[in-house]
Amino acid sequence: MAQDQLIEKIVSLAKRRGFVFPGSEIYGGIGGIYDLGPLGVELANNIKAVWWKNIVYSRDNVVGLDSSILMNSSVWHASGHVEGFVDPLIECKKCHKRFRKDVYERLYEAKKRLFKKASAGGGNPVLTGEEMEVLLCKDGVHRPQDFTGPRLFNLMFKTHIGPVEDESSETFLRPETAQGIFVNFGNVVDTMRVKLPFGIAQIGKGFRNEITIGNFLFRVREFEMMELEYFTRPAQAEKDFEYWQKERMDWWLSLGLKKENLRFREHKEDERAHYAARSVDVEYNWPFMEWGELEGIANRTDYDLKQHSKESGKDLSYFDEETKEKIIPYVIEPSAGVGRAMLALIIDAYHEDGNRVILKLKPELAPYKVAVFPLLANKPELVKLARSIYEDLKKKFPTVWDDRGNIGKRYYAQDEIGTPFCITVDFQSLEDQTVTIRDRDSMKQNRIKIKDRVTSLKKLLS
Ligand code: GAP
Repeated sequence: MAQDQLIEKIVSLAKRRGFVFPGSEIYGGIGGIYDLGPLGVELANNIKAVWWKNIVYSRDNVVGLDSSILMNSSVWHASGHVEGFVDPLIECKKCHKRFRKDVYERLYEAKKRLFKKASAGGGNPVLTGEEMEVLLCKDGVHRPQDFTGPRLFNLMFKTHIGPVEDESSETFLRPETAQGIFVNFGNVVDTMRVKLPFGIAQIGKGFRNEITIGNFLFRVREFEMMELEYFTRPAQAEKDFEYWQKERMDWWLSLGLKKENLRFREHKEDERAHYAARSVDVEYNWPFMEWGELEGIANRTDYDLKQHSKESGKDLSYFDEETKEKIIPYVIEPSAGVGRAMLALIIDAYHEDGNRVILKLKPELAPYKVAVFPLLANKPELVKLARSIYEDLKKKFPTVWDDRGNIGKRYYAQDEIGTPFCITVDFQSLEDQTVTIRDRDSMKQNRIKIKDRVTSLKKLLS
């Protein structure tokens, strides 16, 4: 299947089956904003839960935090975001469309050969939606010389606190959750008796007024991030960086992403964020752009804590009991977007088998773990027994009921949303108190005793 076809199918499935809806759709939408539907919110919650389990619950030295989205504007001056959280913006002199310079360059470079071939009579190049948006002008293709020189554009959304809209009330929607962690560093050290190295983890919304949006959930203006700030001794930072690189790659693999679709990419010096001494991305092989960032891992050094110490006048150093010295720790930061995780997981899990679509999500990520059906909806005795099984299972697992259409269609509908198991109550169930349990991937059906339903499902789900 062509890669642009695949992403179209995924966008359509996401809408049709209640994973992702365009934001404010009835008013024509709003650029770069999506809403999670009933199944999308389950998938996102499951991703966040496995991240939290891996990062916080399974470690002795990581604690959680939930800081506010709105912060004192001094935070963003101190962190360097007001000055440095900028993208180079270019504008076409003919059609006045504006783009991120690096996005335009990446797409143009990738398609340059095709344009040359096309202008020499080699047919029209096939472009993805994003490529059409960025590369095509009203009368041809955007050439590098068509643009005005780059101007720096700050990505933070401005807002005001209180009724008066002047400079003194101005602040920003946070573009990263990390600053909430840095400003609470002293509070956590004082209250949790944490010892270096230790981490503070946070999941929350970030907002960026991206110049060029697109590729569905890949680049949006409001998104959730899963961030860990891992504080460590400066001399240990490089080793911890390597440690977290491996940990994060192992985590993505544990979610079921294919190894061949993941790789690391080290940032060149001119690509790194203003706070980072080293950055390595975990990249995914996206169908719409080939390799691109799924998660960023950065060595932020002591930059943020030092800046906040300096600008707030509060000492954010840490007294190291081991060396009896006061130090400002270094920070290693793995930071991943929930939306990009969802998108990569759906793409990787998407399979077609004839006209059957199967979302081969790992059971722990699937929105529903089990579906319960009566074989026939017009047989009250089957419906009654199936309903009693459903009522019981839904207290223990995310469970869905379906009695519409024929049984084959119901199986297919569950396959498409990734439900790993379907339980069907049939006529034999009435006689011997067994039901069939069907496996999404193999389509094999086994009979289990109704009384063993919970233990059987627990075993299968693990
Ligand atoms: N605190 C570090 C930080 O913000 P980042 O690489 O800019 O790092 C972290 O963002 C992650 O957030 C990315 O790896 C990506 O998964 C996600 N992300 C960033 N910008 C995004 C956007 N505009 N739309 C969707 N996800 C985004």
